[in-house]
Amino acid sequence: MQTFLHGRDLIGDLDFTKEEVETVLDVAFDLKRKRALNEPHPYLRDKVLAMLFFFSSTRTRGSFEAGMAQLGGHGAFIESKSTQISHGDTPKEIGEIFGRYYDGIAIRHVDWGIGNGYLNAVAKASRVPVLNMQCDIYHPFQCLADLMTIIEKKGRDLRRKKMVVSWAYAASYQKPMSVPQSLVLQMPRFGMDVVLAHPPEFKLMPDIMEQAQEQARKFGAGFEITDDMEAAFTDADIVYAKSWGAMVHTPDPEEGAKIIKKYSHWITDEKKMKLAKPDAIYMHPLPADRNIEVTDGVMDGPQSVVYDEAENRMHAQKAVMALTM
Ligand code: CP
Repeated sequence: MQTFLHGRDLIGDLDFTKEEVETVLDVAFDLKRKRALNEPHPYLRDKVLAMLFFFSSTRTRGSFEAGMAQLGGHGAFIESKSTQISHGDTPKEIGEIFGRYYDGIAIRHVDWGIGNGYLNAVAKASRVPVLNMQCDIYHPFQCLADLMTIIEKKGRDLRRKKMVVSWAYAASYQKPMSVPQSLVLQMPRFGMDVVLAHPPEFKLMPDIMEQAQEQARKFGAGFEITDDMEAAFTDADIVYAKSWGAMVHTPDPEEGAKIIKKYSHWITDEKKMKLAKPDAIYMHPLPADRNIEVTDGVMDGPQSVVYDEAENRMHAQKAVMALTM
């Protein structure tokens, strides 16, 4: 068990080794148990986490803020637009200055081509851990919560479980591709056979795909790519279907929005879920475009584990904060 994570950043999913992720999971399950028993666990008494948001959030803000309070500390909610960032504060200054006020700096910055660079620039200047609350490339805390949820539903030995990571149609906006990218990087390390399904224009970033394939090779897991949603769902143990934008295909948002409209049949519905194994679980990080991306019947049905996923955000994040801060 690798326990020495103090001072470490978590920006990309592979920043922690598989053994370190296993430590995070062990601590997360322990913290979940302690909360269920009303057992105090103030491992971060008097510590403060800066939570800097460049984009809206429901779950991430709530779970980090509640998690810090439960650990005996405080989460300070900071909206970028209420700071002097637009008037000149650089990432170096945020890293230097917030690193002196706070014990950790968590950031959400999903702007395509900008977010991840911003987090890394803050981390370079910061003396305290930088935690990625979602950037344009990764959503590592969502992925840790997803892994925790899969273990709860399918057991600790996940080898040969078929996990479908599928694109789904959504009309609201071009969503970041950070969730599927985190999933294809992390899940093969736990032995799951990942099938990535998307229409041709919704490719993930080429270097992320290379790294995902390398993880699959290293850990003896399968990794396939298809443009057939139904074939992907067939015999799946885990269905994870959500929308993301066509940013790799075209940086033009209007062009991307036009392309999305071609694929309104990529909805997760009861008929497609019937193709998966009878005990398959349906996952989504939320928010979802209901009855566009996924039907109410699937989202609210017996196979859906979306609320456990949302809950596990808090336990997984508390584990990482307690270990790193
Ligand atoms: N899943 C997720 O990150 O939710 P929020 O955007 O509401 O934080």
